[in-house]
Amino acid sequence: MRASGVILAAGRGERFQGQVNKVFVLLHGRPLLRWCVDVFPASGVVGELVVVARPGEEGRITELLSEVPLPVQVVPGGKRRQDSARAGIEAARGEYVLVHDAARPLVSPELIRRVLKAAEEHGAAVPVFPVVDTVRYVDERGFLRPEDVPRAGLVRIQTPQGFRRELLLSALEHAERQGLPLTDDASAVLALGKPVAAVPGDPRNLKITHPEDLALAESLLPGQYA
Ligand code: CTP
Ligand code: MG
Repeated sequence: MRASGVILAAGRGERFQGQVNKVFVLLHGRPLLRWCVDVFPASGVVGELVVVARPGEEGRITELLSEVPLPVQVVPGGKRRQDSARAGIEAARGEYVLVHDAARPLVSPELIRRVLKAAEEHGAAVPVFPVVDTVRYVDERGFLRPEDVPRAGLVRIQTPQGFRRELLLSALEHAERQGLPLTDDASAVLALGKPVAAVPGDPRNLKITHPEDLALAESLLPGQYA
């Protein structure tokens, strides 16, 4: 199999401050997780999906996954995102994996294809979006620090992130041995000293993190949902 989609849904959604894991929250009547689960088959380049669920939520997740036109595995995740990613990648059978946050419902089929193509060429690839604001550090007293942070070339990193499966697996194992905290999967590959290609991301592909992000996502939906 060429590529597996690995969808991470095993978080708690603490910053979202909801009653349940945010991946169950409805966006235009459809659970957040289901949005990206419907996009992966539409990309036409993925042979299976691995959905990583919080232990105890596997049943509820499985119920959400009816009639997906691809083989789907549901596997239990771990405490940290990197533990969940590793569980998903170990279960995946594709030569390549596309690791995606379930909290990004507006991913597009084009973006999935773009990331996979670059991952096949370079071993690892992520979608990025240039930072347009001025960026600075704030000190612990709440005042701006004087040193400039050069913005040229600075990007925000999205998912799905694509990798040769064996490469990401050894990178995550290495990060574990070194005790490195990770916020995404590309960081593990970079820590191994391997290159990661950047492809254009999509400004619509936002991550639902805080409660107000849901209204923002709704406003970005195409006319058919208005
Ligand atoms: N995730 C995961 N396993 C974890 C932590 C996070 O599978 N142990 C997933 C989340 O479900 C989410 C994605 O990783 O789809 C991105 O993480 P984030 O936005 O931080 O989600 P949460 O960790 O759920 O939110 P918070 O950090 O606010 O608790
Ligand atoms: Mg988190």
